[in-house]
Amino acid sequence: MAEKFYITTPIYYVNDVPHIGHAYTTIAADILARYNRLKGKKVFFLTGTDEHGQKVEKAAQGKGLSPKEHADIMVENFRALWKKLNITNDAFIRTTDMEHIKTVQGLIQLLWDNGEIEKRQYSGWYCTPDERFWTEKDLVDGNCPDCGRAVEQIREENYFFLMSKYQDRLIKYIEDNPSYISPETRRNEVLGFLKNNTLGDLCISRPKARLAWGIPFSFDETFVTYVWFDALVNYFSATRYLAPHAEMARLGDFWWPADHHLVGKDILTTHAVYWSTMLMALNLPLPKNIFAHGWWTVDGKKMSKSFGNVVDPNVMAEKYGADAFRYFLFREVPFGLDGNFSEEALISRTNTDLANDLGNLLSRFLTMAEKYFSSIIEIPAGSSTELNPFAGECMYAMIPAVDDTHSADWSNLRFNIILDHIWSIIRAGNNHVAQKEPWKLAKTDVQELKSVMFNIWNALRLSAVALYPFMPDTAEKMWKQLGLKSLADETKQSLPGTLPPEANKYPKIYEWDWKPGYEIKVSKGEQLFPRIEVKKETGKEKEGKGPMTESEQVSAERKPEEINLITIEDFAKVQLKIGAVLQAERVPKSAKLIKLQVDTGEMRQVVAGIGQVYAPEDLVGKSIVVVTNLKPAKLMGVESQGMLLAATDSNGILSIVAPEKEVKAGAVIK
Ligand code: ME8
Repeated sequence: MAEKFYITTPIYYVNDVPHIGHAYTTIAADILARYNRLKGKKVFFLTGTDEHGQKVEKAAQGKGLSPKEHADIMVENFRALWKKLNITNDAFIRTTDMEHIKTVQGLIQLLWDNGEIEKRQYSGWYCTPDERFWTEKDLVDGNCPDCGRAVEQIREENYFFLMSKYQDRLIKYIEDNPSYISPETRRNEVLGFLKNNTLGDLCISRPKARLAWGIPFSFDETFVTYVWFDALVNYFSATRYLAPHAEMARLGDFWWPADHHLVGKDILTTHAVYWSTMLMALNLPLPKNIFAHGWWTVDGKKMSKSFGNVVDPNVMAEKYGADAFRYFLFREVPFGLDGNFSEEALISRTNTDLANDLGNLLSRFLTMAEKYFSSIIEIPAGSSTELNPFAGECMYAMIPAVDDTHSADWSNLRFNIILDHIWSIIRAGNNHVAQKEPWKLAKTDVQELKSVMFNIWNALRLSAVALYPFMPDTAEKMWKQLGLKSLADETKQSLPGTLPPEANKYPKIYEWDWKPGYEIKVSKGEQLFPRIEVKKETGKEKEGKGPMTESEQVSAERKPEEINLITIEDFAKVQLKIGAVLQAERVPKSAKLIKLQVDTGEMRQVVAGIGQVYAPEDLVGKSIVVVTNLKPAKLMGVESQGMLLAATDSNGILSIVAPEKEVKAGAVIK
């Protein structure tokens, strides 16, 4: 029986329309679902909507609708977007589904019967937008520590899940299972939080009189549960009624636990702490992995309605195509880190990587095939990778791009690195054309020309296979232009919900040898990625016509680092000095922040977010690099008079930047 792969996205609130953050997680899940279907696994890819709670109730009221009527309208925005972005989710859960409601009620009853829930008098500070209670000491300057907004004092009876008793067990679980939470920096953050704070119990109810829009408790109809207890359970309840072969799942627990819960960094605690302890109390297995991705800023600023810079993924897909948008999000920034979105960067990536590297290789190949061989490519028999150095080069990149038994890139969700492997094949193809000069071979050595053309055809075929999870439409177009029937047919599992007819076809289509002895008729089709011209005067784009000229190609070869070039004068504005750390201590109530007293020629206090990786005692005596002319800023109420430099690599490893040999404190860096 084929292995299973169960992947989830957060369920999104229906109080608002989808934005780039929603698209980001859902595309990541789609990439993984498609990849695992190609691998021959039985895949269950779940997304959906979170429909209860005060925010939805308020948004509905504002429109004069019932919460359910409002949700019914809003949910369509998500469904339509997933269609536009080519998302192959197998199911779409709504927390208003009757089966989900019954599962939540059943689980609460079970916890109540087992003494895992208690009713208590409670008073606390409540943040309405976040729908969370905080204690007095959690507040920062009297406001919500998460969102900074005002909180109100509320006193009432409520039901509490006795989360606190699982604190030690959870710490041990995370320590014993290094891949439970990733990336590593996030894992350290959660561990730091759990080790430095006393875990409280979790309020899971609201009196119905105050919030009607939730799931009623079966043993006390005057209370409802809402948001987190309701929402997190979706991952489990879906396996009971929405998964392929749900009836089997109920008997044999086929789908649970999930292989990955993908979430944004802001909702990691709710997943890593609330959900994990809920599952412990329910005696259910924990998911294999919770992966927290970073956040997108937009043109360097936090994305928010008030800045008017919210990126609508519908617009991006319509303007640039779903595949270019999908590619950009996962090529530009390592999954797990924060990144900056700008249309300028998206255009630059599209022109450089997609139009120039990939599109050009395909169109040059097809033009030459037509000219020299009337579009017929002969597939040689037994073309071995040892005798064909080009084949060796391609396979060297292909294997880690598709085979997770040879590389940890897929299991660690290193999408940008996988794309880099694929680009090594595409670049090798372009170099092969440049070195072999087929136009000369056409006059001198037709046999050699045939083998060069086969090589390029095969490099393009392999690229299409490897690109399929990321850019499914492009891969399919390439596949057809290369004279092959259908990549989806070839793999048979690319439709959601369908199970592979035979396990693991993938290795067969990614090997170099391909149906030897065949002749393939290739055909020129539409251009994959027309170059996007930016009209400087207006900032508006227009689509380019036809293939690029030589000079256009040169300008398209701009490296991505050049996008944000600054002048030496800009750099000179930043004052960097060597600092000696004389004292270090944690900022109270923060798992992340450490307060340092640093000698940079003068004494200054620097607050740095390195507390999950470094202990204060490790820092005293170290030489560090400090930006000394930053405007002072307050972090958790503590003033920072500068910034320490640290590097984070694509694995999320964080390291302080330090001088290579001993230099005096206060030494200027330039
Ligand atoms: O949190 N960049 O729903 P939501 C990247 N219903 N990701 C971003 C982002 C940005 N700028 N802004 C938001 C919820 N996100 C709950 C989840 S799950 C059981 C319940 C991400 O509609 C954010 O990190 O607010 C989160 O993963 C999602 O978008 C927001 O979902």
